[in-house]
Amino acid sequence: MILKGDRLILGACYYPEHWPESMWREDLRRMLDTGIEVIRIAEFAWNKIEPREGVFDYSFFDRFLDMAEEEGMKVIFCTPTATPPAWLTEKYPEALNADIDGTLFYHGARRHYNYNSPIYRELSARITEKSASHYAPRPCVIGWQIDNEVNCETDFFYSESDHNAFRVFLQEKYGTLDELNRAWGTAFWNQTYTDWQEVHAPRKTYTNSTNPHEVLDYYRFISHSARSFVKLQSDIIAKYKKPGDFITTNGLFGHLDNHRMTAESLDFMTYDSYPNFAYSQELYAGDSDVMKDRKWSRNLSEVRSISPVFGIMEQQSGANGWNSRMEAPSPRPGQITLWTMQSIAHGADYVSYFRWRTCTMGTEIYWHGILDYSSRENRRLREVRDIHRKLQALGGLAGSRYQARVGMIRDYDNIWDAQLDIWHGRLERQSQKAFFEAAQLTHTPFDYVYLREDTTPEELAGYTVLFYPHAAILTEKQAKLLERYVENGGILVAGCRNGYKNIDGQCVRDELPGLLSGLTGTAVAEYTPIAPDTGAVFINWDGDRLPASEYVEELEAAPGARTAGVYEQDYYQGSGALIENRFGKGTAYYYGSAYTVDAVKTFLKKLGVASPWAGVVQAPQECELAVREKDGRQYLFLLNYSPKAVGAQLLRPGKNLYTGETVSGSLELGPYGTAVIELT
Ligand code: GAL
Repeated sequence: MILKGDRLILGACYYPEHWPESMWREDLRRMLDTGIEVIRIAEFAWNKIEPREGVFDYSFFDRFLDMAEEEGMKVIFCTPTATPPAWLTEKYPEALNADIDGTLFYHGARRHYNYNSPIYRELSARITEKSASHYAPRPCVIGWQIDNEVNCETDFFYSESDHNAFRVFLQEKYGTLDELNRAWGTAFWNQTYTDWQEVHAPRKTYTNSTNPHEVLDYYRFISHSARSFVKLQSDIIAKYKKPGDFITTNGLFGHLDNHRMTAESLDFMTYDSYPNFAYSQELYAGDSDVMKDRKWSRNLSEVRSISPVFGIMEQQSGANGWNSRMEAPSPRPGQITLWTMQSIAHGADYVSYFRWRTCTMGTEIYWHGILDYSSRENRRLREVRDIHRKLQALGGLAGSRYQARVGMIRDYDNIWDAQLDIWHGRLERQSQKAFFEAAQLTHTPFDYVYLREDTTPEELAGYTVLFYPHAAILTEKQAKLLERYVENGGILVAGCRNGYKNIDGQCVRDELPGLLSGLTGTAVAEYTPIAPDTGAVFINWDGDRLPASEYVEELEAAPGARTAGVYEQDYYQGSGALIENRFGKGTAYYYGSAYTVDAVKTFLKKLGVASPWAGVVQAPQECELAVREKDGRQYLFLLNYSPKAVGAQLLRPGKNLYTGETVSGSLELGPYGTAVIELT
């Protein structure tokens, strides 16, 4: 029933093992009465199925599922591998993850296992097989969640099994030690390997400056390990699940190619959205980002790039807090609705709240759900009830797609390279943040567009403009794909630091920007990070001034290309900062700096893609604007993230889906207010 394109559905995370059985029925009834039609269960409850090694007892969840069936509640059942039982890790400590020094992470918290331990894989496969074969036929079970938040808590693995598996991964990848030595550039600092046993996952090194090519492969290896662990389970569930039931997991976390994981193992991705982190004690004080909870739209755009229509497996419904950290206040009145609508605006057709009732024991006693410890009726429950009422009127938009004409290209090799490389990382962080903020403030919806092995020119063709800011690593295949896109009429904005690394992360000897030289008609003559004492650097682009940031490349235009912008400061004053090159039916730009918010705004405006809905709605900056479309019908979302009421102007009439009224002209959004308008 979820994500079938016919309606929007609410759910909740429920933990039968946390409450006396005498409370179950009342909880189920009350959830259903609130509009919660689906619950997710069992992701941390291995012991409730296999209390001792090899002893299986299904009665606990059978009793619960019987009751769910009697009451008409649908269930997402989880595999419990995120929390191995004490009996398991005590007997098989090799199942545990370790820190870089090899110290094991023991039982007592969660996600303390590793993906490569043969015995953990075997026992995980067995509990998955037992759970799926027993519970999948139940009529109330509609889908499966694998594990919980793969790569959450840590995305580093250093157990003995990981060292061994890394070696195998490299043997399969490189075949010979000579090839490995070449790819890792081991001639530098005398790192040459002469026997496979000398090769390890990164270990502690002086100054934490482990060979960068090794670290890049290690991140790829973690992704490979996590994917294969998920695939192991998904292949088993697929044998038992009823036709139409789905397999998913909840993300997104680091060192993991979520796109590939979804393509090979899942029906769609779900995401856990906790925008209240923006108001946490730890983050708020040091966070100068004006986007605050609105920043979660960045994550939601990432999920959308994996599954255009997706689910939220855990949506914020209360204050944050573990007993040891992560304190944040209760959502203010309206914020649960705002954050729910934020998810829906970006493509969520299923939203499940974490959690029905706040836990009275354990680490998460302060991580609040809809209800507090007692089951007392409260403001948050009333708000969820109201959200359910609103969603009934919004059902028609289920299955619709988020609309964007601007794309930000991303790929995992560069994401991981930017994590280990200080020059690359700084540019990437700065530009991504600026891009998101500028797109939000100018109401220019955008997509993340991931380059995968099999990305086709047609997938890119839907975008008027694509940005590919700092793709250090570039392959010939990717360069050809970008050429096709521009040749066919697209506008590509590349640079700076594009194409200076190969797939191993080694710098190329080609003249920069390497594989993009022809497409962009650009030669990089000189380059430097902006010196700390230079002050502000500006670029003059045909009379418009935009601020450079972090880095300058002095650019020269090839014959036929044009220098569209020049620097105004320091010794590079007058040198090229922006090259424009007609290529086929389109245009490629090469920009020599990182982006600021103002620079992105200038690009969006001059390339004619800023504020595409300005003729339909004039929205204040405090509001996010998003549009979903289906069968020619457009649904406009306005989300006010501020505590003040704001006004928007609808320049075209539409139907306010919350009220059913036709509206045009002034539209007021209260504090944290939202509106969904079907345009007519
Ligand atoms: C999520 C996790 C949940 C719960 C929640 C609140 O990351 O999946 O199990 O821990 O955070 O901390």
